[in-house]
Amino acid sequence: ARLVVLISGGGSNLAALLAACEEPGYGAQVVAVGADRFTAGGLALAQERGIPTFVTRVGDFAERTEWDEALTEQVSEYRPDLVISAGFLKLVGAAFLAQFGGRYLNTHNSLLPAFPGMQAPADALAHGVKVAGATLFVVDAGVDAGPIIAQTAVPVLDEDDVETLTERIKVAERAQLVDVVGRMARHGWVVRDRRVTIGAPHP
Ligand code: GRF
Repeated sequence: ARLVVLISGGGSNLAALLAACEEPGYGAQVVAVGADRFTAGGLALAQERGIPTFVTRVGDFAERTEWDEALTEQVSEYRPDLVISAGFLKLVGAAFLAQFGGRYLNTHNSLLPAFPGMQAPADALAHGVKVAGATLFVVDAGVDAGPIIAQTAVPVLDEDDVETLTERIKVAERAQLVDVVGRMARHGWVVRDRRVTIGAPHP
């Protein structure tokens, strides 16, 4: 399967995917990496491997819809089977979802539907929950709201601060992303009534 990965930051999730794609039998290759800013550190990880990169900035367009259309076109050029938001800090629009709906995945650092948004580990601590984690889901028009593909829980420890909890979640998040994307690439998936099944659908 062909993967296009979208990032905004350091790209630790991207790094995990790139490493997995080097394993024989993984079943996927990263064919391009896109970002919404030139400062996304993960772009270098792709460039080092000779993987094409692109940057599509909201600020370069008069309208947000034009940005969305440009991003859609850019990603389409690489004919992905899956598009993965790995710390991509932009909500895509209608054009993107029309093209990639059902195969655009996002990884989020909470057990959704708890704690959507940008501060999930801090929100989890502030709420006093004892279990946190990571969610891989199919992006829809909502924010952190689409059909859930997989979740991994991690404990919240008494001594945690935002940094230690964020890091524990990220470790689980990377492992989940690599495992589940590989299985989706090898076996396919179906989304029905908001429920995602990897492999053949159950009758
Ligand atoms: C991930 O934890 C994601 O859930 C959050 O941002 C992080 C991305 O990290 N929204 P990286 O750029 O993959 O290191």
